[in-house]
Amino acid sequence: MDLSDLRREYTQAGLRRADMHADPMRQFELWFQQACDAGLGDPSAFSLATASATGEPTVRTVLLKLFDRRGFVFFTNYASKKAQQIAENPKVAMLCHWLPLERQVKITGVAEKISTIESIKYFATRPRGSQLGAWISPQSSVISSRRLLEGKLRQAMEKLAGGEVPMPEQWGGYRIIPNSLEFWQGRENRLHDRLRYRRDDRGDWVLERLAP
Ligand SMILES: Cc1cc2nc3c(=O)[nH]c(=O)nc-3n(C[C@H](O)[C@H](O)[C@H](O)COP(=O)(O)O)c2cc1C
Repeated sequence: MDLSDLRREYTQAGLRRADMHADPMRQFELWFQQACDAGLGDPSAFSLATASATGEPTVRTVLLKLFDRRGFVFFTNYASKKAQQIAENPKVAMLCHWLPLERQVKITGVAEKISTIESIKYFATRPRGSQLGAWISPQSSVISSRRLLEGKLRQAMEKLAGGEVPMPEQWGGYRIIPNSLEFWQGRENRLHDRLRYRRDDRGDWVLERLAP
């Protein structure tokens, strides 16, 4: 299929250095809020890229569940492919796509497990079905059939019969501690605006404009 005619101009907005917050997390918060206010579907979904120690890359969608001064938190299975790669190589990249606003935010950083207490606190807020799903799915492993999973779910429901579902040991959160955040706004003639925060040698944020 030839897709060469599938194109559009990006004209909604521009990005000036003077408009950017000194703190990139506050800037992220502003854009995240605008993505929510615009009614975008799944504004918290982002692409998470990881790589093995030998550089084999993988990328998948996960959901952002918390962000604050310390970084970006998502939850997953600690035995999954992504977790194996993070254990080998904690350098990760994340990409938030807010395309109806002609925006993306590209972040690089280092992922580390959050405390068990923090994970338990979040696990307790999940719907019961998701809590049970975390117990029965050996995420990223080859399985013989879907029926196997459904059988395990039924067994787990009977065993726990309405009781509290404890958090599985192999489940929890990661925090991505950012070392660069690039805010991208589409512009006409492909002359997009790209403003990137990166940490300098003293650990202070430096804001730079990148060529599109
Ligand atoms: C919209 C969306 C949200 C998702 N959110 C999560 C999530 O928060 N955590 C997670 O482990 N997987 C999530 N997934 C599934 C992952 O994309 C992926 O299939 C799974 O984590 C296994 O990835 P891995 O084998 O690379 O570790 C989500 C998928 C989609 C499409």
